[in-house]
Amino acid sequence: MLYLRPATMEDSANLLLWRNDPETCANSRNGKPIPPRRHDLWMDINVRYGFPTRVILMAETGDNVAIGVVDFAAASPDLMVFDVSITMAPKMRGRGYGQEALALGCKRMAAKALKAEIKSENAASRMIFARCGFILVREIDGFAQFRKEPA
Ligand SMILES: CC(C)(COP(=O)(O)OP(=O)(O)OC[C@H]1O[C@@H](n2cnc3c(N)ncnc32)[C@H](O)[C@@H]1OP(=O)(O)O)[C@@H](O)C(=O)NCCC(=O)NCCS
Repeated sequence: MLYLRPATMEDSANLLLWRNDPETCANSRNGKPIPPRRHDLWMDINVRYGFPTRVILMAETGDNVAIGVVDFAAASPDLMVFDVSITMAPKMRGRGYGQEALALGCKRMAAKALKAEIKSENAASRMIFARCGFILVREIDGFAQFRKEPA
């Protein structure tokens, strides 16, 4: 059973580690790791001061261990459309947690339209977004664009 809670500055090291692991880099648009100084700035902007344009939710197991993150970034000035991305800790992948975390995050953001851009060959990610109700809109330049309308 997973729980979601807002990210804090104490999650910085985990977020950088998960973002920079090779599989996550390979599935990102530029394919490269984030330099630590840029990550610190990202934490300041998005975690320390980000709400309500950025909603970053840590997925935790019952024993309060953070194992992943679901990240919602406002894509419209009226905060009605958000881009979603998800990253699980490398050792926790492939156990069903990603789908559970995404479903919980989508439930929290049910009043918003949600969009996701997923590398076309990222089968695990495509699978969990489709199972959480996202519909494939188009595929372009090796990325699949998914969308989920508000409930
Ligand atoms: C993508 C990611 C979030 C998925 O989370 P996860 O916990 O590994 O995924 P889950 O275990 O919940 O589910 C993955 C599903 O995809 C399926 N899957 C995995 N690889 C697959 C493949 N090559 N073909 C078809 N299905 C596949 C799994 O079998 C599983 O389905 P099942 O529950 O029926 O077995 C996670 O792997 C991750 O953090 N990857 C790196 C970062 C990333 O790619 N993020 C997405 C960017 S939007």
